[in-house]
Amino acid sequence: MIESEFEERIVTSTFTGPDNDIEESLRPRRIDDYIGQEKVKENLGIYIEAAKSRGESLDHCLLYGPPGLGKTTLAGIIASEMGVNIRITSGPAIEKAGDLAAIITNLQPGDVLFIDEIHRLSRVVEEILYPAMEDYAVDIIIGKGPSARSIRIDLPKFTLIGATTRAGQISSPLRDRFGVMLRLELYTVEELSEIVLRSAGILNIPIERDGASEIAMRSRGTPRIANRLLKRVRDFAQVKGNGVIDKKTARLALSALEIDELGLDNIDRLMLSSIIKNFGGGPVGLETLAATIGEEAVTLEDVYEPYLLQMGFISRTPRGRTATVNAYKHLGIPMTGNEQVTFEV
Ligand code: ADE
Repeated sequence: MIESEFEERIVTSTFTGPDNDIEESLRPRRIDDYIGQEKVKENLGIYIEAAKSRGESLDHCLLYGPPGLGKTTLAGIIASEMGVNIRITSGPAIEKAGDLAAIITNLQPGDVLFIDEIHRLSRVVEEILYPAMEDYAVDIIIGKGPSARSIRIDLPKFTLIGATTRAGQISSPLRDRFGVMLRLELYTVEELSEIVLRSAGILNIPIERDGASEIAMRSRGTPRIANRLLKRVRDFAQVKGNGVIDKKTARLALSALEIDELGLDNIDRLMLSSIIKNFGGGPVGLETLAATIGEEAVTLEDVYEPYLLQMGFISRTPRGRTATVNAYKHLGIPMTGNEQVTFEV
């Protein structure tokens, strides 16, 4: 994913800029304060309680799903519920095997090591993880050539939490070493409304329920986007209104931000209109589509597609992506009758 491409985009799901501290303050710390992902919370709650009652560290966990759904937040919650420290790093930040060896040899018993974007670890770095996860040990090679020898350093028991947007890209030796796999889903509008109200409470932003649901409806199922929109809508409420986020100011602000009634922004709409206008409604391969609209294919796949699929605007076929009848209707483009796949979802 190319971070710089998100800088101008209000609905980016990556961490950017000075809002980071605020973002931190909005993260729930305990499982009971975490809204949504009911199935994940229920299972995780059981694993945590069981591990604690046995006096053991939690099994290694893999969290996967689209960006912005709270994988880092959940890792923090796991650490605080287990009563241990968390060390946070990411796949691209660990360049050399030695970097990872240094991190894991400094862990305290029970600690959580969180590796975001774990699918981006290089092969050599990943290989350090295998004995670390399985046997709690690191093998270090000392010297070069014929005199080189390997020494094994024992590690304390720790919990690795890996997060990824693409579970399919993780090699099977790595995937197989996770005892717990948890898939995060896009949030419902009701859950996002609760999250917006909670965040507004923490940030002392006056808000009405209708205003919160208006933001929730346009947040593409993603809390990080909901919280970001909340802050931008607050700006409009302060400057153009009386400071209170109600339905009217929320609608005004969101249309100024070019986010439509269903949460699509101009890149989502460009993606749909390109499938329709340039490729007769599809099917079109993701790479071709990405090149046409000037985005990275992985960005389309990770960031835009999950919501468009969930909303029933596109469908995935073995030959590529097609626009659905809903997409034509939403964009107000008449169908010609020659489209290949046209069904309601
Ligand atoms: N802020 C961001 N994600 C959240 C969640 N799932 N629950 C509560 N607050 C949040």
